[in-house]
Amino acid sequence: IEHIAVFTSGGDSPGMNAALHGVAKTAEINNIRLSGFRKGYEGLIDGDMVQLDSNELKKWVHRGGTLLKTARSKGFLTLEGRQQALANLQKNKVDALVAIGGDGTFKGLLAFSEICDLPFIGVPGTIDNDLAGTDFTLGFDSAVNTAIENIDKIRDTAESHNRIFLIEVMGRDCGYIAIHSGLGTGADAILIPESAQDFLQLLENAESYDREDAFIAIVSEGDELGAELAASKIKEINPDVDLRITKLGHVQRGGNPSAFDRMLGIRLGVTAVEALLLGRRNAMAGILNNELCLTPFDQVVKEHQVNDELQNLLKIFGSKN
Ligand code: F6P
Repeated sequence: IEHIAVFTSGGDSPGMNAALHGVAKTAEINNIRLSGFRKGYEGLIDGDMVQLDSNELKKWVHRGGTLLKTARSKGFLTLEGRQQALANLQKNKVDALVAIGGDGTFKGLLAFSEICDLPFIGVPGTIDNDLAGTDFTLGFDSAVNTAIENIDKIRDTAESHNRIFLIEVMGRDCGYIAIHSGLGTGADAILIPESAQDFLQLLENAESYDREDAFIAIVSEGDELGAELAASKIKEINPDVDLRITKLGHVQRGGNPSAFDRMLGIRLGVTAVEALLLGRRNAMAGILNNELCLTPFDQVVKEHQVNDELQNLLKIFGSKN
């Protein structure tokens, strides 16, 4: 392998720049040329390629977002787009690809592998923690820390007014951010897409809300009901309730990566290049039980479930005193 290209794709996540640095440093010590495509798959289609240098990238390890920029590409969903991307890779004599992104990114690579024979290695970069093949995706820890910091602030005002707050967090169809940020802030209820029980518990708890205390519920954005509907159901059973909804939104995606995500990014970036050098292809680098590992793409994008231990925690902490 003489020339590797890397790109970041899908929603940005804190730690992507650290992963880029891991990739760049490992390429450098192996005398491999490293290029980056900007704006994810869009850059592959447009041939928007830049040279990457680990001396420059080391100054980005502490920064959130992605130096290479990112996009959710519609063009790459078409065969025409993928053919254009292949032509650009061939023109630039790229021997292997490293993709940093979430499930959409890996589904894209699976489709691409039907027409492109280059080896691909993925790095899980998404705040959602919704991929199999890794205990943690890059950015999840930082996003949870950001959510916690903000929920703590909301608690101050909620306690002062004895209000009910429904706080919506990100995570797409996955409740990990909600569970971690909810348990970490002593929330009274946590609603996640994977559970049908949690809303009944929320209602039961909200019914007995006595105006002498705050009541904080964390609602995952992918929850079937959603914060607005949950609020109206609460108002049905308790019409005088003093209730507010806060959506934390994209603040969860930004900010400097946590120490954990910086280290995870470095480790996964290094692993990606080492895997390519060992002849591996079409797999995602991940961390399972603190061991680095590779999992084939088709296995990482399957439906993700919150594990039994977390489900049990939800049950314990969602129950009434
Ligand atoms: O996948 C990361 C994520 O932040 C999800 O949690 C959220 O549903 C989505 O991206 C938001 O996407 P966008 O930034 O395109 O609105």
